[in-house]
Amino acid sequence: MLVCHCNRVCDRTVRQCIREGAESADQVALRCRAGSTCGGCRPLVEQLIRLEQREARIEPELEATGT
Ligand code: FES
Repeated sequence: MLVCHCNRVCDRTVRQCIREGAESADQVALRCRAGSTCGGCRPLVEQLIRLEQREARIEPELEATGT
């Protein structure tokens, strides 16, 4: 899914940036340029940050329970 139309950045690229350590929309913009032009996609980028951070918290719990 295309997240940033200005810079043609898809959700997979944004998610990858977050997994590699981007913790804010500014940090995502620095890494892949998503959100660095008109800013219209920033709410979606912020949503992806929250989603990735939530998944990162859940995955270790699943591993600990063996599921
Ligand atoms: S749509 Fe992402 S900066 Fe414009």
